[in-house]
Amino acid sequence: MKELSSIKNEIILTGDRPTGRLHIGHYVGSLSQRVILQNNNTQYVLIADAQALTDNAENPEKIRENVIELALDYLAVGIDPNLTTIYIQSQIPEFMELTTYYLNLVNEGRLHRNPTIKTEVEQRKFADGVPVGFLVYPISQAADISGFKATFVPVGDDQKPMIEITNEIVRRFNRVYKTDCLKECRASIPPIGRLPGIDGQAKMSKSLDNCIYLADPSDILKKKVMGMFTDPNHLRVEDSGAVEGNPVFTYLDAFATDIDKVEDLKARYQHGGLGDVTVKLFLFDVLEEFMTPIRQQRTEYQKDLGEVWNILKKGTEVSRGVVAQTLTEVKEAMGINYF
Ligand code: TRP
Repeated sequence: MKELSSIKNEIILTGDRPTGRLHIGHYVGSLSQRVILQNNNTQYVLIADAQALTDNAENPEKIRENVIELALDYLAVGIDPNLTTIYIQSQIPEFMELTTYYLNLVNEGRLHRNPTIKTEVEQRKFADGVPVGFLVYPISQAADISGFKATFVPVGDDQKPMIEITNEIVRRFNRVYKTDCLKECRASIPPIGRLPGIDGQAKMSKSLDNCIYLADPSDILKKKVMGMFTDPNHLRVEDSGAVEGNPVFTYLDAFATDIDKVEDLKARYQHGGLGDVTVKLFLFDVLEEFMTPIRQQRTEYQKDLGEVWNILKKGTEVSRGVVAQTLTEVKEAMGINYF
């Protein structure tokens, strides 16, 4: 966190696909950073609905519903529309134009080598083959980033290949068209990394059904916490238990403010004589304290969805102006500004 507050005067661009509610893993991995970074930088956050459609073409309903859910999650955790410009990707046609020109600067083989795309293709098991739009989404992501001349893109490890391809396109464009209008960017990898699932699997993810969602009400939260995976060898209260790889303690490390208390619990757990239920009840209190204001803020905004759409509309207008300016420079550099 110390490192984060030293990041200043950057143009930051980041975002998410609107395919589901955000969970506490998202908070640890990205949302908490955005809340800090918005103070000293120019920050844009995109709701990547066009990208989400690349593997949901037959499900536009799902994407549309999640646009507003995602916006509510953002606002609930403290992404402040006065400090951060939140926008909807599909409403900025200039992105599609940029993508068209960038498509010509990338070889087909380069796309097939993208490790994130490879993994996603394996997971998705597309029945009729990979949609072309899906295969090329890294190129449209290069438009998302370069359209703002972003200098800093805080993303997880899986997005690193997208940053690489963005910088390749930027360098190639500037070289081929003898310009410096596009800018390379740096990726930042979250220092904390990812939160495990409540089932102990390495990743909290919707498809694994092991998430605590930011909007989960108290009773659901309690049920999830009390059912969490712990050390499977910690059978009796007297037994000594493992803290390493025990998600209950990983969550406490991420969310508890009383560090001394956590250290004390860890020591007693390892020594033997401390039951899982006691630790889980404490974790429930910790998460309840963390989530209560988030839920309240969400409920406030939910009462006035018109205002939320207004925030998105304004953010999209501002963003469109920025991207349109980049597109003008791109067309000038290419010499296709005829009129
Ligand atoms: N690919 C990102 C994800 O799946 C979402 C995204 C789209 C994005 N465009 C971006 C992230 C630009 C950072 C910058 O989560």
